[in-house]
Amino acid sequence: MIYSADCLEDNFQHTQFHQKLLDSMKFVGWKKERVVAEFYDGKIILVLPDDPKYAVKKAEDVRRLADNELGFQQVSLSCPSQAKTYLFVNRDRMIVGCLIAEHIRRAFRVLAQPAQTKDMTREDFMEHHRAWCCSTLPEGAICGVSRVWVFSLARRNAIATRMLDTVRSTFTYGSPLTKEEIAFSDPTPEGKLFATKYCNTPTFLVYNFVS
Ligand code: COA
Repeated sequence: MIYSADCLEDNFQHTQFHQKLLDSMKFVGWKKERVVAEFYDGKIILVLPDDPKYAVKKAEDVRRLADNELGFQQVSLSCPSQAKTYLFVNRDRMIVGCLIAEHIRRAFRVLAQPAQTKDMTREDFMEHHRAWCCSTLPEGAICGVSRVWVFSLARRNAIATRMLDTVRSTFTYGSPLTKEEIAFSDPTPEGKLFATKYCNTPTFLVYNFVS
């Protein structure tokens, strides 16, 4: 949040904003946690739509945080009653990562873009990193990543990678998903960089975009 430390009202708003953020991220622990992965620096908890109210509310609070950061109203889930929310809880009992996965049937492949050239203007460069085009030919896919968010101070620690690995091994009971069966909902520039690395290709699958 941008604020002026000299302004009393700004300071008050900032404190409130900060407290709200901490409240949403704080994880007190639940009697029945569905822990689906454990690491040296945290664990991943799965929340399902039929879980107790306190768990579903926590998942919603964190989703709201992620949506706020994405900066616009996100596309709603195709079937909220089947969406699965994965939360990464760190050793300080803070939720620093959230991934919402949903069942999908088809997705579209991002089209490879020409490599960046030296004489590109700054505007071209920004556009290159913002825009993506995809094929109009649908392909089969099983799991859609509706949201993936990692707290800014916890990024580049493979939290998103581990959440997605966990999705792949737990999303469909008994049959791990391949990276080719995953698609990303309308990826942001950061999401695009992440997906490209995770899927080992810039031509990963996307869905749920405004065409
Ligand atoms: N710039 C360049 N490469 C990036 C990147 C970035 N901002 N974020 C991820 N990558 C690539 C890197 O190759 C990285 O490996 P490295 O750190 O060894 O170089 C690899 O992806 C794995 O990244 P990881 O650490 O698992 O990702 P993360 O935990 O930092 O989370 C996001 C990635 C996109 C979820 C996170 O940046 C985020 O929450 N952004 C804001 C919300 C958003 O845009 N979500 C995407 C919606 S589609």
